[in-house]
Amino acid sequence: MSIHQLDTATSRAHPTPQPMRRLTVPAIRRRKVDGATAQPIVMLTAYTARQAQLLDEHCDMLLVGDSLAQVIYGLPSTVPVTLEMMEAHGAAVVRGSFHALVVIDMPFGSYEAAPEQAFASAVRLLKASGAAAVKLEGGAAMAPTVRFLVERGIPVMGHVGLTPQAVNVLGGYAARGRSEAEASKIVSDARALDEAGAFAIVMEGVMEPIAIGATEAVGCPVIGIGASPRCDGQVLVTDDMLGMFERVPRFVKRYADLRQTIAEAVERYAHEVRERSFPGPEAIYRED
Ligand code: KIV
Repeated sequence: MSIHQLDTATSRAHPTPQPMRRLTVPAIRRRKVDGATAQPIVMLTAYTARQAQLLDEHCDMLLVGDSLAQVIYGLPSTVPVTLEMMEAHGAAVVRGSFHALVVIDMPFGSYEAAPEQAFASAVRLLKASGAAAVKLEGGAAMAPTVRFLVERGIPVMGHVGLTPQAVNVLGGYAARGRSEAEASKIVSDARALDEAGAFAIVMEGVMEPIAIGATEAVGCPVIGIGASPRCDGQVLVTDDMLGMFERVPRFVKRYADLRQTIAEAVERYAHEVRERSFPGPEAIYRED
């Protein structure tokens, strides 16, 4: 039994059906035929095994995003994220899922210097986590690296438009593509990644016409976030869409209000502990 197939029967984990039937990279790529995607692709971020268990059956892809910097670690940006952090969370998400394709983010500094550096980092991530593909940020400048990885057996998802790892160059997280030059660069970046062999591209925080133009311009699926419903699929940060945070970007729709639900539950628990009504008779061990 490999480390990726632990027997979780004694833990709180869902039992894993045998045999596992996980979506593959070619199956995701084939969802776009002649420029059209009949069934939009559903992707969410996941960072823990339990989160993956809850999301898995509803999603085509789970992204172990480096947004775990802010969501899990309370860091100010994705810049400090390390390979070790991605390895640990990637392995947890793979253990917690059996249906969705798991894609893992390459952290800042682990791939930009040279294709060989990217290959070594990607191999580390895939071996440690069991994920099927990596995602990296950047457009045409990264195309040779994407080609290098794909030719050596590593599926790559691109990420263009607003690229959060470049926050120190961009100066913030504002939507991209407001000028004509920026707009045409985003489309040509997407084209370059597609031609280099990326199996899908995340398009984040761009003016809608650019998202539509890029989706039409490339053969591989474009997964939008703050982009357009006309992209081939959508991704959101799960904790954002579940309402865990007070402030979220404009493009996030909150499908639940977990922050409030948690606050109410913890308030009730604290009250019951303080008045000694928890644990009640049903929650304590007695001989009878
Ligand atoms: O890290 C992340 O969560 C991402 C998504 C926002 C696409 O890259």
